[in-house]
Formats: sequence, structure tokens, C-alpha cells
Amino acid sequence: MKVLILNGSPHKNGSTAYIINKIKEKLNAEIDEWILYKENISPCIDCGYCNKNEGCAIKDKAQELYNDDYDILILASPVYMYNVTPPCFSLITRLNMIWRNSHFLNIEHNFHTKKGILVLVGGGNGEPKHALDMANLLFKFLNVEFDINTDYIYSLKTDTVPVQEDKNLDKLIDRATEKINEKL
Ligand SMILES: Cc1cc2nc3c(=O)[nH]c(=O)nc-3n(C[C@H](O)[C@H](O)[C@H](O)COP(=O)(O)O)c2cc1C
Repeated sequence: MKVLILNGSPHKNGSTAYIINKIKEKLNAEIDEWILYKENISPCIDCGYCNKNEGCAIKDKAQELYNDDYDILILASPVYMYNVTPPCFSLITRLNMIWRNSHFLNIEHNFHTKKGILVLVGGGNGEPKHALDMANLLFKFLNVEFDINTDYIYSLKTDTVPVQEDKNLDKLIDRATEKINEKL
């Protein structure tokens, strides 16, 4: 069983990293973490390749996501402008290939069913509504099961309550990771 973590924070020791480290301590599995601010994954450039050909023309790390060789997907992002951070969004745009291959070419990418966890961290500037929509889109494309009642870990007032002092957090982490460990 392999866990893939998509880390969308620019901060090595920030709030998102703090939560990711706590999750890692709880999971008994092989873990691969992509630091998206360092991976330089291109956004979709609408080149049209996937309208006429199988797959994506851009040969970067996003291709590994298409390989579908992991069992748990964790998206962990700070909230920026109510959304996930730009490198998360860039990666998500690369999934448009899946829709276009299906729509224009009848090529279906049948990704196997997997479990998901969403981690969102915000300073406290409103609800992360677009981030939730974006995460759901990512999970839908990649056939990730995600239940917001059990698989959502959040700390959304870091400007006033530092993540280390968020009393709700341990409970959320335990709930989500215990569910994953049952499957491992
Ligand atoms: C460009 C930018 C936009 C932000 N937008 C929001 C927002 O819409 N809502 C919010 O709650 N926090 C927002 N924040 C605050 C961050 O989400 C917050 O500082 C977070 O804890 C940073 O996580 P990190 O330490 O893992 O990088 C924003 C921060 C930046 C830099």
C-alpha cells in the first residue's frame, strides 16, 4: 500500500507541514510526498494534444499521477483566496486530459478506487469554499473516495490560533488516519 501526499505549501516548516508530519507519524505505510512548489509541474497549456492523442504531451511529474500506482491520496494545501494554492491548481488542470481523452477519443482512464484525505489550513479569511470544490474535483477525476465527515482535516484560523494550539486537530487527524489504517 502506498500513500501519495500532495503538499501545496511553500513553507517547509509551516502549518501544512506540521499537520502532514503528524499524519505521517500515524500511518503505517510507504509514503511518497510531492512538495508541489518544488516540482515545477506545468499547468495545462491547452495545446490540444489530448483531443487527438492518448495522454498528455507535457512530460513532467504529473505523468506519475496518471500511472495510478498509489492507494491513498492526501491533498494538503493552505487556503489562498478561498482556494488551494497555485501549484495544486496547476496539477489539477492537468487532469483535463482525462476528460478530453474520454470526450473526444472514447479513451477511458479507469483509475482504481482509493481513499483520500483533504488537509486545509487557513489564516481565517472566510470559508475555503473553492478549495473544497477543487479538492472534490481532483478526487473525482482520480477515483478517490472522500467523505467530508471523516476524511477532512482542517485548521482554519491560524492567524489567531496557531496550528500547534488547535485543540480540534488531533481528533481530526486520529479519525482520518484510523480509517486509512483499517485499509492498510
Ligand atoms: C496569497 C495568500 C492568500 C491567502 N488567502 C487566504 C484565504 O482566502 N483564506 C484564509 O483563511 N487564509 C488565507 N491565507 C492565509 C494562509 O492560508 C495561512 O497563512 C496558512 O496558515 C499558511 O499555511 P502554511 O504555513 O502551510 O504555508 C492566504 C495567504 C496567502 C499568502
